[in-house]
Amino acid sequence: MARPLIMAANWKMHLAPAAARDFARAFLSGFVARPDRRYWFFPSAVSIEATAAAFAGAERVSVGCQDVHWEPKGAYTGATSVPLAKGAGASLALVGHSERRHVFGETDADTARKVASAHGGGLTPLLCVGEQLAEREAGTTEAVVLRQLRAALGGQDVGLIGAVVVAYEPVWAIGTGKTATPADAGLVHRAIRSELVRMGHPSPLILYGGSVNEGNVAGLAAEPEIDGVLVGGASLDPAAWRRICEVP
Ligand code: PGA
Repeated sequence: MARPLIMAANWKMHLAPAAARDFARAFLSGFVARPDRRYWFFPSAVSIEATAAAFAGAERVSVGCQDVHWEPKGAYTGATSVPLAKGAGASLALVGHSERRHVFGETDADTARKVASAHGGGLTPLLCVGEQLAEREAGTTEAVVLRQLRAALGGQDVGLIGAVVVAYEPVWAIGTGKTATPADAGLVHRAIRSELVRMGHPSPLILYGGSVNEGNVAGLAAEPEIDGVLVGGASLDPAAWRRICEVP
């Protein structure tokens, strides 16, 4: 049997509730979930409830929040707390996505607090790490990614570390049409995996993200170090996303 894979869709700032419901209907029509796959959807916070309801009962499907605040409640205009996301139907939380880090200025320390609040509140954290182009060109990819990992997870208890799923998303590959080769991604995944094991993670799962599409998903899925994909642009069309999810 093929290795288990997690197929994760990050819808970013797209798909209002009605569009998310239409997506789910089109995606699920005739869809057979594979026992060795998980299908994760990260809608905008306003569409979590509609997405969770539309996928209710669909096998191996989970819904998550694209970002969470570290406080469970309070005067934080515009933010989504873990209990709010959970109440809307989320069971996962993206944390430290590069757009949160580089567009919204989130720090490694913010990311650490968010991972802890997601886990503490009962959401599985999907922690994103990845280097920028200048860092790759300077040969510091591994150092950057491991720093992000240690900053987010260092000092956390092993229960939390063991619950985290990681996505390696090189910033230069996100939304640019450029992808890391499976072998290049595999090298970074190997470094992340050994660091997670050193920290006490019993069985790390590491997704790759950055311009994954129908043309390159087979090569990435065949790389033994890659346990799944996190996909933005190519996850917005239900037919195309289904073809990606059905990669052999
Ligand atoms: P992309 O985005 O597939 O559009 O490159 C991936 C992501 O940001 O998670």
